[in-house]
This record gives sequence, C-alpha cells and structure tokens, in this order.
Amino acid sequence: MAAAQTSLTIPRPDDWHLHLRDGAMLQTVAPVSAAHFARAIIMPNLVPPVVTGAQAAAYRERILAAVGKAQFEPLMTLYLTETTNADDVAAAAESGLVKAVKLYPAGATTNSDAGVRDIEKVVPVLERMAQIGLPLCVHGEVTNGEIDIFDREAVFIETVLEPLRKRVPGLRIVMEHITTAQAADYVRSGGDNLAATITTHHLIINRNHMLVGGIRPHYYCLPVAKREEHRLALRKAATGGEARFFLGTDSAPHPTDLKENACGCAGCFTALNTMSLLAHVFEEEGALDKLEGFASRNGPAFYGLPVNDGTMRLVKRDKPVNFPATIADVTVFDPGFETFWDVETTI
Ligand code: NCD
Ligand code: ZN
Repeated sequence: MAAAQTSLTIPRPDDWHLHLRDGAMLQTVAPVSAAHFARAIIMPNLVPPVVTGAQAAAYRERILAAVGKAQFEPLMTLYLTETTNADDVAAAAESGLVKAVKLYPAGATTNSDAGVRDIEKVVPVLERMAQIGLPLCVHGEVTNGEIDIFDREAVFIETVLEPLRKRVPGLRIVMEHITTAQAADYVRSGGDNLAATITTHHLIINRNHMLVGGIRPHYYCLPVAKREEHRLALRKAATGGEARFFLGTDSAPHPTDLKENACGCAGCFTALNTMSLLAHVFEEEGALDKLEGFASRNGPAFYGLPVNDGTMRLVKRDKPVNFPATIADVTVFDPGFETFWDVETTI
C-alpha cells in the first residue's frame, strides 16, 4: 500500500462567501480570514446594508485597515433592494470595485429585511447585470411562513430561481451555501452561467448534529443543515472535481451570548479552521487532489479572475491540531472530531 499523503501544496485559496461584519467584530475576524485566504467575496448584510457603490468603497477601506499588512483583497458586493439603481451598480462594477450583487429574499436570514419581496421590481437591474456579466449571488430560500424550514431551499429552486433564470437569460448566478441534493443537481443541469458555493460546515454536520442529545446553537446556521443524504450529496459535489462548485465558507461570526440564547443567531464561525477541516474531509473522500480545484481554482474561473500567485502548504501532523475554542467573544466552529491537517505556510 502506498504511504498516506502527509502534505499538500495548493495555490492560495479564496473564500467566495464571507461575513466580516463591521466595527470591533471586523477587527477581530478580518485578520483570521486574511491569514489564509487571498481574496473573499464580502457579504453586504451590515446594518444598514451595503447598497451603493460609495458604501462598498468605504466598507472596503475599513476592511483593508482591519487586515493591516496581510495580503488580502476584499471583493465587494452590493445588497440588492427593490430601489437599487442599475447605473450605480454598473458604475461600481465597471470601476472594478464590485464583483457581485447579493439577492436576499426579504426576511430569509440575518439582516435581510431590506431584501427583495417582488422579483419583478429588480428585473431592470438584473438585465443590466446580465449585459455586463456581473454575477448575482443568491440566498436560495423562500421566506413563506407556510413552507417548512427544511424545504425552503428546494422550493426556492422551483418557484423563484428557475423562473428568474428564464426571465433574465444570460444572468450569471451563484447559488450560495447550497445544502441539498436538489440544489447540487440543479446546478449540474444549469449550464455555464450557474454555479454554487458550498460551506465547510455543511460538509461536516447534518441536522442530527444540531438537534440530537440537546440543541447545539453553534451548529445553527442558514440555510439550516439538512438530512445526512444531503450532506453526502454535498460532499460528492465538493470533492468530485466539478468546476461549478467552489468554496464559500459563509463564516458568519456572532458573539457567543447571541448564539447561546433563547433566540439564537444563525451562523457558524469557520474562517479559522476551514482549510484544515477541508483537508480532513477531502482526505476522507479520497480526493485530496480535488481540494485545489474547490478552494483555489473553480471560484476564480467562474468570476473571471486569475488564480492567486501565492501558495498554501498543508501538512498532516502526528498529533491532533489544537484550535482555539474562541476568538474574542466568538466561538470557533467545532467539527466534533480531531483533525491532523494544519496550515503550515501561506505565502
Ligand atoms: C449569515 C449571517 O449571520 O450573516 N448567517 C448564516 O447562518 N449563514 C447570513 C447568511 O448567509 O444567511
Ligand atoms: Zn452568508
């Protein structure tokens, strides 16, 4: 038998879906992502949301200040509202500042109240985006209270996404943080203009991890983790070498007291240990050679950006890696198993 692989060097990875927040939280979490990732698509769900090009430019400056000397490029997004101005979006894209627009169905998740209720109202902006090739990142869940939370992604595909793609042909779409076999299959069948991000935690937990033996608020995120069969389908999509699936951690920090709460916030903070956990998962799937595509190549290919020049070297240690349980007042995602993979260097 060949000796097990104990190191892996890949082009420096990117995170195609990241929440950095603002203020003190930004100071805490931005350096964590910048230590490993060269670039990240920055989610705009601040309070108030990042709606205009001017707001995105100011937020970008605050992020760059928070990462200090680290080489890190924030790829900014705009939060789509029913009053978003198509000219402002086009100008922000043409200047290179903004790399995507984010669609939150109103009420779907954290700070999404300003999101879209009636898709018809945003069709002119979407048509302009299709013309200039600016991708739409979609939080793919319906918000209708009658739809069971575990079905919201699958229903969104049928009732919102499919009609939207027919209404605005040519629009490039990233289905964010997919959690179901239906979403993976839909992306496969969707052609070159459709891709999906997959989080680290959805490759690791299913809904039992969150709910059996006591409720575990640090595993609560949106879209909520589904049945085991869906976790396995996501693993297949992430590790199978298919170009239209790539890493978006959806690392979403909340203070621990707001997670461990009678009405706990949604979001897992995974930025710190994502690359170690991914190496663990890809090794389990016998697919360490596919991690490079998932974390470093497929995302830039979809966004029309170059692969990073730098590299990341991961090594498999003899002893489990000890990650801190918390960073400031944020609880670090606990995968529930020991991992031996460690990021040795990021250049
Ligand atoms: C995100 C957040 O906290 O901003 N939460 C989450 O559970 N993923 C919002 C989001 O991406 O849905
Ligand atoms: Zn998110």
